[in-house]
Amino acid sequence: MRTKIVAGNWKMNKNFHEGLELTSEINGMVNDEINGNVEVVLIPTFIHLNAISQLTQASSKVSTGAQNCHTETSGAYTGEISAAMIAAAGCKYCLAGHSERRLYNNETNAILAKKVDAILANNLMPIYCCGETLEERNAGKHFDIIGSQVKEGLFHLSNEQILKCVIAYEPVWAIGTGVTASTAQAQEVHAFIRNLLVEKYGNDIASQIRILYGGSVKPDNATELFSQPDIDGGLVGGAALQSRSFVDIVKGAC
Ligand code: PGA
Repeated sequence: MRTKIVAGNWKMNKNFHEGLELTSEINGMVNDEINGNVEVVLIPTFIHLNAISQLTQASSKVSTGAQNCHTETSGAYTGEISAAMIAAAGCKYCLAGHSERRLYNNETNAILAKKVDAILANNLMPIYCCGETLEERNAGKHFDIIGSQVKEGLFHLSNEQILKCVIAYEPVWAIGTGVTASTAQAQEVHAFIRNLLVEKYGNDIASQIRILYGGSVKPDNATELFSQPDIDGGLVGGAALQSRSFVDIVKGAC
């Protein structure tokens, strides 16, 4: 049985005070309302990670993650943040390859493979994002694109390392658009990704890896999405910025 994860990617939103307030609200609501076995992950901006990680220690179900990291552990990289710093801030997870970073920061699968290594080397768990654009889907290339993203970013890892990874399938056309992939479309891609894992790592390992769906997840579509056999929770953007909608999505995973 895979423990589901619902992660809130706050992106470049919330000031310090708002971030603390949202965290306290989510902690309280998860404590009062969530009985099922689910992991809740808050992914705020870097400079709030320390304080928010400390607040989440009050809850056994809630932990934190970072939105990105550098490939190196330290050095002359002005403006960058290392996985070692993120681990020291109390995080458990770190995103790698969110489509906004692939698009705006030119992150390639090869760079992301190095980021995944840095994340694992610092005892964090990567949430490795993949997903096709609308153009790629319309051209029927989505399986090729997702296959390359997964293989080139992750398949250099050992059995032990891949077991520490979480994968997030986020069709770019569904992110922030209000258009969610249909349950069947999402399940089809999740099953495809799990099959790639079976081919490379075998059934036993593939069946333990969590694959999250992201892209306009809302309280009213979460339950159906998360009940699919290969969908193990969600990576939530817009709806994670408000405690009620986020915790209602968490309920969909229970
Ligand atoms: P969204 O974002 O839920 O606002 O579509 C998801 C994401 O980018 O992770």
